Formats: sequence, C-alpha cells, structure tokens
Amino acid sequence: MSHETALCLLAAGKGTRMRSDLPKVLHEVAGLSMLGHTLRSGDGCAPSRIVIVTGHQSERVAETARALAPDAVCVEQSPQLGTGHAVKMAAPALGGFEGDVFVLYGDTPLIRAETLDAMLAARRGGSDVVVLGFDAMEPGGYGRLILDDAGGLDRIVEAKDASADELAVTLCNSGVMCVPGPLLFGLLERVTNDNANGEYYLTDIVGLARSDGLACAVVRCDEAETLGVNSRVDLAAAEAAWQARARRAAMEEGVTMAAPDTVFLSHDTAIGQDATVGPHCVFGPGVTVESGATIRAFSHLEGCTVATGAVIGPYARLRPGAEIGEDVRIGNFVEVKAARFGKGAKANHLAYIGDAEVGAGANIGAGTITCNYDGVLKHRTEIGAGAFIGSNSALVAPVSVGDGAMVGAGSTISRNVEAGALGIARARQENRPNFAARLREKLLEIKARRTGGTR
Ligand code: UD1
Ligand code: MG
Repeated sequence: MSHETALCLLAAGKGTRMRSDLPKVLHEVAGLSMLGHTLRSGDGCAPSRIVIVTGHQSERVAETARALAPDAVCVEQSPQLGTGHAVKMAAPALGGFEGDVFVLYGDTPLIRAETLDAMLAARRGGSDVVVLGFDAMEPGGYGRLILDDAGGLDRIVEAKDASADELAVTLCNSGVMCVPGPLLFGLLERVTNDNANGEYYLTDIVGLARSDGLACAVVRCDEAETLGVNSRVDLAAAEAAWQARARRAAMEEGVTMAAPDTVFLSHDTAIGQDATVGPHCVFGPGVTVESGATIRAFSHLEGCTVATGAVIGPYARLRPGAEIGEDVRIGNFVEVKAARFGKGAKANHLAYIGDAEVGAGANIGAGTITCNYDGVLKHRTEIGAGAFIGSNSALVAPVSVGDGAMVGAGSTISRNVEAGALGIARARQENRPNFAARLREKLLEIKARRTGGTR
C-alpha cells in the first residue's frame, strides 16, 4: 500500500455558458485562475503526481498548467465522452501509481485543503472509494448520492437517469473523489455509456465497486465549497465566497478591518498581525503588508511590500515593485512604482515616484514627479537620505539628489544635486510695484470701448 497521492484534474470542458474566448478554467478568482485554485486545494495532500486532462483549447490550458505546476502532466481528451472517459485518459500518466488518486474539477475553485484531508482520512480509514457530497439547497441537475441502510454509499445516480424517489434526495455529488489508482482504473474499464447522456460516467464506479463488495463512503462539506462555475454570474459568486473566506481568515489572524465587505484581497495577499486595513482597499496579486502597518481607505496595492509602522493612504496607489520601508508615510494621491522608500521617508500628497530609490527620512513635497520615461526608455531617480524635495518639483531622470540635499519648490531638476547642496531650477521672481493696478485700469477701459457702455 502506497501512501502517496496523485491529483487528476478535469479541465477539458468548453464552458459554453461563460461566453468567452478564454477557456473556463483560466478565468480568475482573486487574481488566480480557477485551475490554479484547484491545484492549490490539492497541494495540501502533497501529491507526488499531477495529471491535468485538457480538451477545449488544450494548448492554452496546458501552458498555464505548466507555469503553475511544472511537474504536472497534461493529457488531451478528444473527443470528450464524459467524466469517466476523462479520468481514463490519465491512466497512462499514472501508470504504476499505487497510491490514492483525487479526482478534482478545474471549475470548482473553493474546495478547501482540509476537506481533501478528511477524504484521505476516510480512505485510509478503510473505505475503498470516497466521494465528497453536500446537501444541496436546489439539487437540480446534480448527481444524487444514494446511501444504504448502514449510511454507506450505495451508488450515484445522475439526475437525468434518476427516478422520482431518487430525485427527492438532496445529498448530492460534488464530483470530487478519492480512490486508489489501480482500483480506479480497473473499475473505469467496466464503465459503459449506457445512460441518458450516452456518456462514460465516472460516478458509475461506485455501483461497480459495491457489486464487488467494496466499501464506499461519503464525506460531506458545505455546499458553498463545491460551488462550480458555469457562467460569469457563478464566477462572481465564487469570487464573493472566496473574498468572504479570505477576509475572515485575515481577521482571525489579527488584521483589523473596519469594513471587511469593502476590502478585496488576492489569492496571495499576506497581511501581518495588527495591521489595519481601512474601508474600500483593493489588493492585487503579490502584496505583503507587515504587521503593524496601516492601509487607509481607498488605497490600491499590487506587487508591493509595506513594512511595519508604515501608513499608506487614504487614496494611495502602490504599483508593482513598490517597497515601502518601516514607518514610511505615503499619503493621498501618491502613486509609487518600482521604487524603494527607506525608513521614515515621506511622500504625503499628490506625487508620482517611479523607478526610484528614496533614502531614509527623505521628504518629498506635494506635486513632486519623477520624470522616469522619455517616451522610449525608463530611467532611475535617486534621492538621498534626509533629502528634501520642494513641492511641485520635476526630477528628470536619470538624476540624483544627494543625502541631505534640498530642491527648491517648483524646480525642474535635470542635473544631479550633490549631497548637502540646494538645487533650484526655476525662473527668478520679479515684482513690479503698482503694475497690477495700472493693468486693471487699462483692461477696464478696453472693455468699456468694446461694449459702448460706461465703465
Ligand atoms: C458531474 C457529475 C455529477 C455531479 C456534478 C457536480 C458525472 C457523470 N456527473 O456532472 O454527479 O453532481 O458533476 O458538479 O461525473 N469533463 C471533462 N471531460 C468530459 C466531461 C467532463 O474533462 O468528457 C470535465 C468538465 O470540464 C468539468 C467536469 O469534468 O470540469 C464535470 O463535467 P460536467 O459536464 O460539468 O459534469 P456534470 O454534468 O456537471
Ligand atoms: Mg457541471
């Protein structure tokens, strides 16, 4: 008996109801394809082999699969003759595999790793075939799990083939199964397509196993977990369910959220304990927020890190490559891209800092822009520790402002400013006494002449 596990992921379906050029399993929930979510659910069982059954837009699905799981083997199922036929396609790739095979659907992204653990425990506790079931609010087209008197699983009946009595059963098949490889493929050899759909049903292996005197069991999960995506409406429902779960998990891990329903997380968002996230914040993929940092309302973050004690927003935008150091302040309407802020640096209002290095304790005034792009190439800006950049300055990269240097407000800096120096690059101011009063007189006379009226 091998204690290894393998995943067999079914992803051949076209997903007609998605009305999309993109294969269904490549649509994303929380910034990760549904295929990726399924692989992640399966990850918990530490599979030693992964087989993905593709069909519709096979190459495109395989390409994503390879990026997500380089060791996965993709096999093409063409034509698609049913779920049993699909799993059979995986047999050669799982040749000689003696352990337990999990069959998962690529369009069911919410299955928890804990649920698969429970199935594995049931499998190793003596059941030969373990099926994941759920009590459906609306059993509709789901396969029905028919139990025997002892509470074991007797067979699975597809809705189209079910009698009225069987249709009244609300315990339904999620599609997820756990079966030892040799048994699974042995039983599949005997499955026929003698049913209402003319398909080879994977579900038929339960009845066959029972007729061989084998034990079949049901592990139950919440219906929300087995939500399958067939349309964009389902996709939005899966997203909502995923978000609700992730927000709850973040709060349970010690993140404060005043309005969790308005916060959107990604599949890989990492937020430390005692961090605070205000209302209406959006986290794209690749964000790490350390413990004790504060993300204020209406901030948008992706591909960035925020260190402890930093305060971001309200209304801040951190784009990929933003590395925000300890105790840094990034205020309202500040956009940061591919830039590192050293400890305690500040950009409190209305700035764009891209392709830059900002030293510890530097202060960037309102309206500062790093002019990082010349229309063809990107260039870097370096701002030294403790430097002060006056408001409304344009730093034309490549350029550097040394440690402790200052830039006068309104400057367009195109040459390096050395450490400790003041760089100022704006037209000198000239005041002309009484000029405004005289000019106003003149203008009023012109207006009177034009309108023919009096002043
Ligand atoms: C299947 C189950 C049903 C269960 C339901 C849960 C069978 C016979 N029925 O029905 O008991 O309640 O899922 O959602 O298994 N696929 C392939 N190749 C094929 C056919 C399907 O890869 O030839 C893939 C699909 O892409 C999909 C999954 O298998 O990811 C399920 O197929 P689907 O046609 O949706 O099965 P259901 O009729 O929903
Ligand atoms: Mg289905």
